[in-house]
Amino acid sequence: MNQKYQGIEKLLTQKMGLGSGKIGSRQLTKAIECRQKACGLDNLSDYLKRLQSSAQEFQELVEQVVVPETWFFRHRNAFFCLQDYVKNQWLPTHPQETLRILSIPCSTGEEPYSIAMTLLNSPLTSKQFMVEGIDISKKALAKARKGVYSKNSFRSHDRVENQQFFEVRQNYYQICESIRQQVKFRTKNILSPWLPTHPPYHVIFCRHLLIYLDGVARNRVLTTLEQLLDNGGLLFVGAAESNLVKSPSFRFMNYPSAFAYQKVLEPSPHRLPPVKPSPLIKRQKKQPLSLAKPEKKQLSSLEIAQQFANQGQLKEAAQSCQNYLQRNPIDAAGYLLWGEICQAQGDNEQAQRYFQKALYLRPNYREALVHLALLREHQGDAKGAAVLKNRIQRLDNL
Ligand SMILES: C[S@@+](CC[C@H](N)C(=O)[O-])C[C@H]1O[C@@H](n2cnc3c(N)ncnc32)[C@H](O)[C@@H]1O
Repeated sequence: MNQKYQGIEKLLTQKMGLGSGKIGSRQLTKAIECRQKACGLDNLSDYLKRLQSSAQEFQELVEQVVVPETWFFRHRNAFFCLQDYVKNQWLPTHPQETLRILSIPCSTGEEPYSIAMTLLNSPLTSKQFMVEGIDISKKALAKARKGVYSKNSFRSHDRVENQQFFEVRQNYYQICESIRQQVKFRTKNILSPWLPTHPPYHVIFCRHLLIYLDGVARNRVLTTLEQLLDNGGLLFVGAAESNLVKSPSFRFMNYPSAFAYQKVLEPSPHRLPPVKPSPLIKRQKKQPLSLAKPEKKQLSSLEIAQQFANQGQLKEAAQSCQNYLQRNPIDAAGYLLWGEICQAQGDNEQAQRYFQKALYLRPNYREALVHLALLREHQGDAKGAAVLKNRIQRLDNL
């Protein structure tokens, strides 16, 4: 980062936890230049003083530097895990209580609304749960409250599966009233002091925030989350964040691709029933080794591509993925990710080609089978989708 912006970067780290270099230096420079100009200040040190003295201007800069990227049912196994937890653990032990769920940061609302849809599809009624969505960005929350989304908010086929919760208006999808009523939104910086919540939250989704924070802020956030969460409650984090949760009170849950932890402070007098994955979410069996095992160094470029994709930087993600595949032309995981990126870019035809290629390289690749089955379903090819679903079923029964 350019030395002249160091003071501002430091302020962002102190106040909102943003780690140095966690967002692109171009994005940060552009944000600062844009706000400095809007304030009519020629001198950068004057702008820094303005930021230090004006909460309003600090908020304006925050709006420019946050990454609001999100979509409905992101990492959908987390939602299956939530549903299984509610059914097998929470309901039997709290039959009279209201389930309290926090989504922080909730950005433009896709995550808390997905939670509400998941719970209305579970044995709970609307009176048995409430969802709170919190974010530092007022702009993101204004969109969340409106509840109107474009196709960009759907990266898989969850809208089709949950269409009863949307009203279609030309190219837009409005969240229906029954879902909107379940979610309350609030502006808050996660680093600002928290009043103790009574009762505590039973489930917290804190996904794709920790990766943007510096070490000190990350530890503060994790301590806060631990305090806010009920004993026995669940914490969901993002895929790239699961190695950051280190407290002994959080026990990693054996639930594939959900990235969930259970808070277990002291041994419970009653053993909690395990949260068993529903039949569709069986843990992946050991896959046969692909022909060439990619080197560790090359694998990390695939992780970089994954990170770009998670942040919605799809061009960069595609480029990194392409570079990776040039060096690892027979790695099925690379093609799967490339397919996902194409799908996020709206190119279903290419996506299909890459999922097929992944399956050609690894015929029992469950994730590729699932993606392809959903794609076929979406294209109206029910027969083709059924064939693939049978293959998945057979794999799960192995
Ligand atoms: C990538 S989005 C994640 C949204 C959602 N949880 C998901 O996983 O799809 C990151 C969000 O973090 C919010 N954020 C960043 N720093 C924050 C802070 N200190 N307190 C609260 N929210 C913050 C941003 O405004 C942005 O909306």
